Amino acid sequence: MSLSMRRTLIAGNWKMNGSLAANASLLAGILSDRSTSSAQLAVCVPALYLAQAQSVLSGSHVLWGAQDVSAHEKGAFTGEVSAQMLVEFGCSCVIIGHSERRSYHAESDELVAQKAQRALASRLIPIVCVGETLEEREQDATNAVVSRQLAPVLDAVGTQLGSIVIAYEPVWAIGTGKTATPDMAQQVHARIRAMLAERDAESAQQVRILYGGSMKPDNARELLAMPDIDGGLIGGASLNALDFLAIANSA
Ligand code: 13P
Repeated sequence: MSLSMRRTLIAGNWKMNGSLAANASLLAGILSDRSTSSAQLAVCVPALYLAQAQSVLSGSHVLWGAQDVSAHEKGAFTGEVSAQMLVEFGCSCVIIGHSERRSYHAESDELVAQKAQRALASRLIPIVCVGETLEEREQDATNAVVSRQLAPVLDAVGTQLGSIVIAYEPVWAIGTGKTATPDMAQQVHARIRAMLAERDAESAQQVRILYGGSMKPDNARELLAMPDIDGGLIGGASLNALDFLAIANSA
């Protein structure tokens, strides 16, 4: 199977940013693009703005999704949002296990795996985030950390491996302006794909592995040129339509 089987995915993670007015202008800016990028575009918006994303983006080439989902199907889980609710608002994808949720909300590798499984059960694409802290990288523990984070996810998704997306987001590169060099990122992406291949060689070639962490218009091209970097999960730069589109157009 050739590399071209994997369509580049450029997904924006808006995090806790936006307002009805700001979103309207950001989405209009994204939709106004007339270039012919072959990349698939998605925006992951705060849950309250999914209705707005659905109304503005329905019928367009831009997909939308959420930034988290409950591990439970329904019931007494105050404050949580279910996978079926996301489906009802037209979501295609959902970010799972972002490092900010792992650290600020104590999400364990096992919970992340349950959420990925829950998303798949509702036919949502889980964008599963993994990545090491600076301390872990300095201890040469990057591969061990990524393997530990991914193993329960791979157990949970089983034969649906080909339906997930993985995002490698080194924690030290998120929002810091420090990016992994293309070679550093490629090494980890290749390691992740090898882990996937141990489970299912064919699916491993289909899974898109995104890079995230200070991806900007001026570094996107060289990152996206690496053989195992299949797209980006973009934080800060996804809040500016021109920057987001410039990244997509460098794919
Ligand atoms: P930045 O692009 O702002 O570094 O954020 C990356 C990220 O966390 C995407 O999920």
